[in-house]
Amino acid sequence: MVGLAEEIIKALMRNSAIDKCADLFVKHARIWLSHMTLICLGLEGTAHSFGAGIVSNDGTVMANLWDMLSPEKGGIHPREASRHHAEVGPELVRRAIEEAGVSPSEIGLVAFSIGPGLGPCLRTTATMARTLALRLSVPLVGVNHCVAHIEIGCLESGFSDPVTVYVSGGNTQVIAFAGGRFRTFGETLDIAIGNMLDVFGRSVGMGFPAGPRIERLAREGKEFHQLPYSVKGMDLSYSGMLTAARRLHSEGVPVPDICYSIQETAFGMLAEIAERALAHTKKSELLLTGGVARNKRLIEILTGVAERHDVLFHRVSPSLAGDQGAMIAWTGILQYQAGDRLDIAESFIRPRWRTDEQDIHWRSE
Ligand code: ATP
Ligand code: FE2
Repeated sequence: MVGLAEEIIKALMRNSAIDKCADLFVKHARIWLSHMTLICLGLEGTAHSFGAGIVSNDGTVMANLWDMLSPEKGGIHPREASRHHAEVGPELVRRAIEEAGVSPSEIGLVAFSIGPGLGPCLRTTATMARTLALRLSVPLVGVNHCVAHIEIGCLESGFSDPVTVYVSGGNTQVIAFAGGRFRTFGETLDIAIGNMLDVFGRSVGMGFPAGPRIERLAREGKEFHQLPYSVKGMDLSYSGMLTAARRLHSEGVPVPDICYSIQETAFGMLAEIAERALAHTKKSELLLTGGVARNKRLIEILTGVAERHDVLFHRVSPSLAGDQGAMIAWTGILQYQAGDRLDIAESFIRPRWRTDEQDIHWRSE
């Protein structure tokens, strides 16, 4: 604060007056804020999982609990998922606070996944977050779910500016920071890779999620079968692959062979656009995040891409790769420290909020 006073006096003496003083005040307030401990409770509830995470502003994940609705049959119904969140949410929050070893009064911020996602799930999560913020008398911040997947990966890896391959049940994107936003360099034109895996799995009798089972079976696959390799410019498409894989199954091709062929083709397509994004952006880090980042074969393929391009590679660890509250809490802290506040009256959910629609003002070029 002494430094601040000195700089304000100097600014006044230079006659550059009020604006300059205000800038200096904001700059110093941010530095001061970053030295204070800030503990954030993050709620994630965009789809079938509900998560509560507690993170401090030095990047320590103090607790990260989640519960996933996984029906043995059929897909996820948004209303069922939102009911699940309402049922498990309060207890998960209570347990997260207990596990973090903090008292509720030490929580200084509540962040929640404001979008994109399924309307009923987002609404239930937002209601819990608003209630908690009011009850604890702390500020509220709304976080973009996809941006949170990237930021938690940067926290874990120490990367500052990666090309990110974000692969999950609802998203398949290759993203890099440019011009103040996380730009989508390439993405699926139809269904997400995780969704393709889950729908194929369901059609051959696997439960949800099918990704891990497909990974296990693929290791037993012996014969490769041609599937549509559909890369269009920087974008890709998985719906043709899904149809073709189901056809192979109806023709009697063994499931392990189909799983093996799906993985090799689907991951090869991702590797191609990731390589092009690296070549184009000339960035020196490659990050793999989202639920499908748990897949060892995908990790192996992208490790090869990183080696060929002489860039660093990090895959987000399984506990932080899927949907969970720690990523929301951490991104909430970044946003809050950059000045973001969300008025409760304005905290409407954003079911279709794209990754590249948010100004990322806590990062600079
Ligand atoms: P988002 O809202 O970001 O789209 P999500 O709701 O799909 O995320 P995640 O936990 O990020 O939730 O991802 C779940 C997906 O990850 C599912 O489609 C699941 O099949 C897939 N998955 C999980 N583990 C593996 C694995 N080992 N191999 C392949 N896919 C996997
Ligand atoms: Fe996600």
